[in-house]
Amino acid sequence: MDLLSMTDLSIKELESIIRETGRIKARPEDYKDRLKGKILVMLFEGPSTRTRVSFETAMIQLGGNAIDINESMTQLGRGETMGDSARVLSRYSDCILARVKRHETLMELARNSEVPVINGLSDLEHPCQVISDLFTIHEVRGRLKGIDLAYIGDGNNVCNSLLLGCSMVGINIKVASPEGYEPAKNFVKKALDISKETGSRIEIVNDPREAAKGASFLYTDVWVSMGDESEEEERLKAFRGYQLNREIVKLANSDCKIMHCLPAHRGLEITDEVIDGRDSIVWDQAENRLHAQKAILLRLLG
Ligand code: CP
Ligand code: NVA
Repeated sequence: MDLLSMTDLSIKELESIIRETGRIKARPEDYKDRLKGKILVMLFEGPSTRTRVSFETAMIQLGGNAIDINESMTQLGRGETMGDSARVLSRYSDCILARVKRHETLMELARNSEVPVINGLSDLEHPCQVISDLFTIHEVRGRLKGIDLAYIGDGNNVCNSLLLGCSMVGINIKVASPEGYEPAKNFVKKALDISKETGSRIEIVNDPREAAKGASFLYTDVWVSMGDESEEEERLKAFRGYQLNREIVKLANSDCKIMHCLPAHRGLEITDEVIDGRDSIVWDQAENRLHAQKAILLRLLG
């Protein structure tokens, strides 16, 4: 089984990973030999702090090992195909984690790998982040169904996975993006289809104030994702007015929690005051990556 998209998991599997994350966080010592002798190969086409270090730490704490590779240190940099590389890497390892520029690369890797492949972020999705975020929301409120979450900003990879994840667990999600930066129609459609089963409300709007009203969680991400650097100037203009700042937060519920997958660009998509404020749970989100990554690894390799 691969984890390339949130929808590679059934709703039951997702809920079970979220519950297991809680058990792992509460009693990490109970899990210390669970992946003894297992090897995770981590292939990164781009930079990463949280994904890289949380997965490597998770493997070590579960009794296994992680090998961190990139294009320039391997023959990928000299033109060996991803398919051939996948065939070889999967003969040495028990699982491959990959952060790729194009989702298609991940699919080629998965098609040719004999071991499970995990999406550590592509241009389309970031399932490991969102699984961990759903756990964090549950940790704060004790439930997921019926929670109101607003995502304000770019309809990007994190937003796509959030749309799917929220619809799977019954969270109501409102996305507010500037015109032209809304999440892709196929992700919205998939989320709407899933919501018919779970009852979650999915809304895509352009007005950040409309999204923030009544929200119990406010989530944002960078305006310029990896790979979008050439559009930086126009994006910074388009996203003006979509900042998580005191005025926007005031429109949400009084106990609204603030979320960001990080890395943050302070002063752009979020102010210092909001990210450092008492309702910010961004550091818990970052910590929970470790516990959730363990639950994912155990599901795929255990
Ligand atoms: N949130 C996240 O995936 O962070 P990194 O880019 O540091 O891995
Ligand atoms: N949307 C961001 C997420 C980084 C974790 C990016 O793709 O750069």
